[in-house]
Amino acid sequence: MNLHKTIPVQVKSIHQETPCVKRFTLVHKHNDPLPYFSGGSHITTYVELDGQTIARSYSLTNPPGQTAAYQIAIRLNESSQGGSLYWHEWMKVGDTLQVGFPQNHFPLSFKAKHHVFYAAGIGITPFMSMMAELKEEGRTFELHYAVKSRETCPFYSFLTETYPEQTHFYFSKENRLTDASLWEHRVGTHVYFCGPPSFIEEFTRSALEIGYPSSSIHYERFTPSQTLTRRRFEVELTSGQTVSVPEEETLLEALLKSGIKAPYSCRAGRCGTCELKVLEGKVDHGDSLLSEEERNGHRSILSCVSRAQSGKIRIQL
Ligand code: FES
Repeated sequence: MNLHKTIPVQVKSIHQETPCVKRFTLVHKHNDPLPYFSGGSHITTYVELDGQTIARSYSLTNPPGQTAAYQIAIRLNESSQGGSLYWHEWMKVGDTLQVGFPQNHFPLSFKAKHHVFYAAGIGITPFMSMMAELKEEGRTFELHYAVKSRETCPFYSFLTETYPEQTHFYFSKENRLTDASLWEHRVGTHVYFCGPPSFIEEFTRSALEIGYPSSSIHYERFTPSQTLTRRRFEVELTSGQTVSVPEEETLLEALLKSGIKAPYSCRAGRCGTCELKVLEGKVDHGDSLLSEEERNGHRSILSCVSRAQSGKIRIQL
């Protein structure tokens, strides 16, 4: 963590959104205004646990321009190894922590004539600030939001009160979200997908088949692609060092643990900060950034999510 690029914040309030989702309001530790952000931005939070710093990125859910506080909503992940578990079980009002400056890898397109958001579960979070920005600017949008049930739907009351015309809920037992509405949008519409990888892959494929130009399709993954096989591999660095990456760790985590200064930001395969040059070996890509051509070339790896296909790769570091 680069402390020069972080902001000290304090937890001002904690709100239980649903049985599995908590919303946290963070203010500057010295009550200063926080940096401005744009719709779709996220922050990286750094919490100390057992002598380790756990870095996780979360979308800001309050309207951009509100600089008195940042709001994030976190879903408890059953297989959490410290990130969401810490926030849900141990974080208390008054606790302090460091957060990074807001960054935006999922910005609104300013070329769009109309914006349509497709969210599944906690994938709603980046759209909260995006919709606020569009409403403020008087631009048109709609939200298609798939969740298990009303009871497990984060921001249900807020959305029904604030965007009653724009919001369409799909509760899986009553009315499943399908790609049917993708056919109905007018020319010039940009579509945005956020949720589990399978959801993003299905909707992106449908949009391309229907004929949306790829420049009108935007998505943000919260977790790496599930198709990756998590097996141990070795990484040889140009510095001469060899690092072993166990199945339960990412390449980035293994590099940092070995004391190697590897760059990173989002840790979710969507910003490109952690990209490293591959000199030998094949990569199993888990990011949502590289093009098909770049993937097939096996010349770079995003260390926060991607792994080696074979037992060993050589990278420039
Ligand atoms: S840190 Fe953002 S893609 Fe890896």
